[in-house]
Amino acid sequence: MLTSTRLIYISTTTVDYQKELETAKRAAQQAGELIRSFQANQSYDIELKGKNDLVTDADLASEKTIIEVIKQEFPNDQFLAEESNTYTQLPSGRVWIIDPIDGTTNFSHGFAPYCVSIALWEDGTPKVGVVLEIANNELFWAIEGVGAYLNDSKIHISAINEPAKSLIATGFPYSHFDLVDPYLVVLKNLMQKTHGIRRAGAASYDLCCVAAGRVEGFYEYGLSPWDVAAGALIIQEAGGTISDWKGGDGWLFGKRIIAGTPNIVEFLKTEIQNVFLEKHLVVRNAANKTSLS
Ligand code: IPD
Ligand code: CA
Ligand code: CA
Repeated sequence: MLTSTRLIYISTTTVDYQKELETAKRAAQQAGELIRSFQANQSYDIELKGKNDLVTDADLASEKTIIEVIKQEFPNDQFLAEESNTYTQLPSGRVWIIDPIDGTTNFSHGFAPYCVSIALWEDGTPKVGVVLEIANNELFWAIEGVGAYLNDSKIHISAINEPAKSLIATGFPYSHFDLVDPYLVVLKNLMQKTHGIRRAGAASYDLCCVAAGRVEGFYEYGLSPWDVAAGALIIQEAGGTISDWKGGDGWLFGKRIIAGTPNIVEFLKTEIQNVFLEKHLVVRNAANKTSLS
């Protein structure tokens, strides 16, 4: 899709990854149309990949569309996409990381938000991120070094740095409950120390809400690369910080993420580290999709 921002943008400067951005936006919009038609016709079949881990034929059709659109432009690139993934670590070179519907449970209940998330990483670094929230047609995007945008407007993280004035997003455990007890302790403490907690149901959208300054922080465990690969770049380009639960950079495959304004990331890290055992702060077997403890 050609936006006015793009026209202004390339008339003033030539930017690396502009074609990749436009391709990712086009793929997201085409997948979004497809997902809306499944939603409008209520014509999807739901299957379970695991407990409460849903996949519909809309997820599969979305993933096929996205990969086809990108392959037409970049036939030699690699794909790490949720419904067909075989990677347990990030390969070198150019990799498109795709969540064809982030928030499938929301989608299947007709409950917004639900998103398409597409990122391009190259040699371990995010270059392009696009998240389309389908129900409200909000298109979040970023290119490394260029900034983060919602539709045609530049976005920035919140100026609020005090925990007591912050709104925090998270995801609740829904499938693997081995760490639910310390999780609930953190939740209880944060309820009392902040303005409140939100659980939107789509991690990519949570990350974009951090980037747009709607919430000051986000944390979750159990996420996969396709949940966070695009949103993380959008946050970084909006001035925010991403960390794993130990304060390191192992958040893409590490299943534990904290994001937000720099102060709020420090605050959340302390709250989590005060409650979770040391052995639970790091993933010990990233290859095992189900192991959190
Ligand atoms: C899920 C959503 C949800 C998060 C889950 C993810 P999916 O993605 O992002 O917010 O709590 O951990 O798996 O399965 O709908 O693509
Ligand atoms: Ca997801
Ligand atoms: Ca998904």
